[in-house]
Amino acid sequence: MKKMFLTGLWLWGVLLPLMAVRIEHGPYLQNVGEREATVVWISDKPSVGWIEIAPDDGTHFYAEKRTQLYDTRIGIKVTDRIHTIRLTGLTPGTRYRYRVCVQEVLSHKHHEVYYGQIASTDVYGKKPLTFTTNDISKPEVSFAMVNDIHGRNDVLETMIGQCDLAQTDLFLFNGDMVSVSETEEQIFSGFMDKATELFAGSIPMYYCRGNHETRGPMAPYFKDYFNPRAEELFYMFRQGPVCFVVLDCGEDKPDSDVEYYGITAYDAYRTQQAEWLRTALKSDLYTQALYKVIVCHMPPFGGWHGELDIAQKFFPLLKEAKPDVYLCGHLHEYIRKNAGEEGIPFPIIVNSNNTLLKAHADGNALDIRIYDLEGKETDRLHIEK
Ligand SMILES: [Fe+2]
Repeated sequence: MKKMFLTGLWLWGVLLPLMAVRIEHGPYLQNVGEREATVVWISDKPSVGWIEIAPDDGTHFYAEKRTQLYDTRIGIKVTDRIHTIRLTGLTPGTRYRYRVCVQEVLSHKHHEVYYGQIASTDVYGKKPLTFTTNDISKPEVSFAMVNDIHGRNDVLETMIGQCDLAQTDLFLFNGDMVSVSETEEQIFSGFMDKATELFAGSIPMYYCRGNHETRGPMAPYFKDYFNPRAEELFYMFRQGPVCFVVLDCGEDKPDSDVEYYGITAYDAYRTQQAEWLRTALKSDLYTQALYKVIVCHMPPFGGWHGELDIAQKFFPLLKEAKPDVYLCGHLHEYIRKNAGEEGIPFPIIVNSNNTLLKAHADGNALDIRIYDLEGKETDRLHIEK
């Protein structure tokens, strides 16, 4: 009897940790602005989620009860695997520490809710995660861009490894990070777990969707993971002297193409987006920035329908608004067009699937450099003010 009891106890001791709720992916930052930031993380079981925020003031995270904010919708704590919390009312240019937590919801019947175990990010064995809000008065900014990774974690790791993370204010993921959106696991095993491991919990990543993310049964749920609390996947933000305008290119073939099985409506979407762009390019956020950078996965040339539609709907507006540079990818080869070529008054950089773009902007210049996988500089664009 005693042996049976001890065996049961041992089994319970082994099984309980295996059954405990876990944070499977994240946390990672989205939509970091001057006064807001969204944090995303995914648990392996349906649970409620919350974040604890602390100032970066030198006190221990355990010094006092930290501000807790729950993932809620319409006044109810959300029970889900995907947890997103939009923090608002933050101070520009300020570093915050944070911990994310989940508590499993075992059952919810009538008005009764029964909870299971809690999991959280570590603030004891290692330093709490931190992030810094944007600051438009910051005199300089450094950023890096990768694109067309297509699930190649090793290439992503090599490129991120070439960045001085302490000196990188933000990353741009300029589309086609996966080849197809079949499962959630593809997103995370393809690039996002690696990005989280390397930087994405502490350094903001701004995602510009490519055309490959639009393919597959998971495609309609892209926004559950990226830009989850923003209105759209096209948006703009400021950091330091740069205004970034992120556009969402849609697919490359006509919506009527047999490859899309009638599921796409990108012509109408790009028309709607052009209306937003018309207003965005006249906003103070854009016009008062020293540098204006357009981020869009597809170039306006190449002759396919998506590229032609971008040229027709976005480019008349961009020609008028004269950004400093247009950054894209999609073609899997490096191409640079200088200002004035083909009647376009600003340079276009088509970054390849195997090159990293690093840039630095200050009061004097926007300096953009391209590096191959060996870390050798292969091109440089220097835009002086
Ligand atoms: Fe693409």
